[in-house]
Amino acid sequence: MSNSPHYPTLRAGMIGMGMIFDETYRPFFERVHAEGIFDRRFGEVSVPLIAVASRTGVRAEKYRAQAGGKIGAFQSFSGEDSVAQLLNSGAHFACVATPDDRHFEAARAVLQAGVHLLIEKPSVLSLAQLDELVALARSKGVLAKVVYHKLLDPDHKKLRTLVVDGVLQHVNNGYCSLLEPKSISGGQFAEWITGRNPGTYVAVHYIKLIDFTFGGRLKTITATGQRGLVGDKAGPTWDSCQMRMIYEYDSGREAAFDIHTSWVTPDNFPGYVEQEVQFRFDNGVWNGHSRKRGVECTVEGRTPFTLKNTMNNHYNGSFMEPWGERSQRGYGIEVLERFAREAAWVEFGGSEADRPARLANINALAYNDLEADRQTVAAVAGLEAILDRQYHGQPDCVVRVDDPAGGLVLYSPGDAVPTVLYAPPVSPKGG
Ligand SMILES: NC(=O)c1ccc[n+]([C@@H]2O[C@H](COP(=O)([O-])OP(=O)(O)OC[C@H]3O[C@@H](n4cnc5c(N)ncnc54)[C@H](O)[C@@H]3O)[C@@H](O)[C@H]2O)c1
Repeated sequence: MSNSPHYPTLRAGMIGMGMIFDETYRPFFERVHAEGIFDRRFGEVSVPLIAVASRTGVRAEKYRAQAGGKIGAFQSFSGEDSVAQLLNSGAHFACVATPDDRHFEAARAVLQAGVHLLIEKPSVLSLAQLDELVALARSKGVLAKVVYHKLLDPDHKKLRTLVVDGVLQHVNNGYCSLLEPKSISGGQFAEWITGRNPGTYVAVHYIKLIDFTFGGRLKTITATGQRGLVGDKAGPTWDSCQMRMIYEYDSGREAAFDIHTSWVTPDNFPGYVEQEVQFRFDNGVWNGHSRKRGVECTVEGRTPFTLKNTMNNHYNGSFMEPWGERSQRGYGIEVLERFAREAAWVEFGGSEADRPARLANINALAYNDLEADRQTVAAVAGLEAILDRQYHGQPDCVVRVDDPAGGLVLYSPGDAVPTVLYAPPVSPKGG
């Protein structure tokens, strides 16, 4: 009954029907199809998936066939014009989950159509693109949000709570690592992986965690990487990469963070991804391991291939609930529902006259707003530029943020003149 026209309806579109659609958006849309969303501030709202867009439409048709009654009727558009067609179908919000380097065009089209935007991480690959999207969203009066589900991981929420409450004081340095299996680079992403790196794709989770949790001003980015497994050892496609970011805080003190990523970990690794962090404070140390949270399971003939020994049951797990219902839940899905609630509140949470105030209120939420993604995008853009120079025979470059020469500036050893990647200030306090 949740899709009864009796309820206000927030119509959804989905651009990109790949792995992340299947992991998190599919269970989210199926859940809201069955239950809608409810909040005292806006009552009951239906959230039907009305249209999807993808390159070929094959996975969309496969999904339609498999889903049966778990989802309502939706249109599927494919090919060059698929995003424009989807945007003609009357969606209130659209989710963009295309490969990283194809987010911008789709996101711009969504905002130009006056449709709320939810974009997968990393939002976009350059600050100029970010500026354009933020300006468009503001002029059209719609939300522009990005999915960083790790901020909703209960362990990371606790870390931030201890920092906000002053229990953990001044972070000095830390490391994070996220290693993806070979099946990602060799199979799942084979279509678009040429010229890409695992840092942009996954280090960005930790860049955001560090940026959001500790605040401060990003000053410097350095990086390197290795090649030879996914592509040629001298080619543009990276197997693994390591980056360092240096931040400065209001106290004038600095911190350094190292983030190591890969997408060539053997497929028989005991967990789906290896994820570990350590942060050292003036008065404490935080060690977090998202894979080894306490469960180790072995099943003959299944682990570690079709089932992993150490499972992350917090991100997105399938369960038989104690009351007999099958469910799929976790913070990877919660983050999408949270966005739907924010959009529903903007549209249905009060009078039309008060809509701008509601919109401003949600725009101000830094955990997912595109405007608050500046330093994260700067770090990603710096990483991309450094790896590109390394590919072109100029390793060991350094990118400085809010430098006298510009907002994002690349220094290459031996070059007298730096390259300005982005001229305006990156940080509100920069320049
Ligand atoms: N939150 C996470 O942990 C997480 C995990 C995986 C992926 N992601 C992000 O999700 C995004 C997609 O990743 P994926 O793993 O689903 O990739 P994928 O390769 O499995 O799927 C990409 C999808 O985009 C579609 N597509 C490609 N170009 C398009 C275009 N121009 N117009 C419309 N559709 C197009 C393809 O048809 C396919 O359906 C990436 O930005 C990635 O960083 C996030």
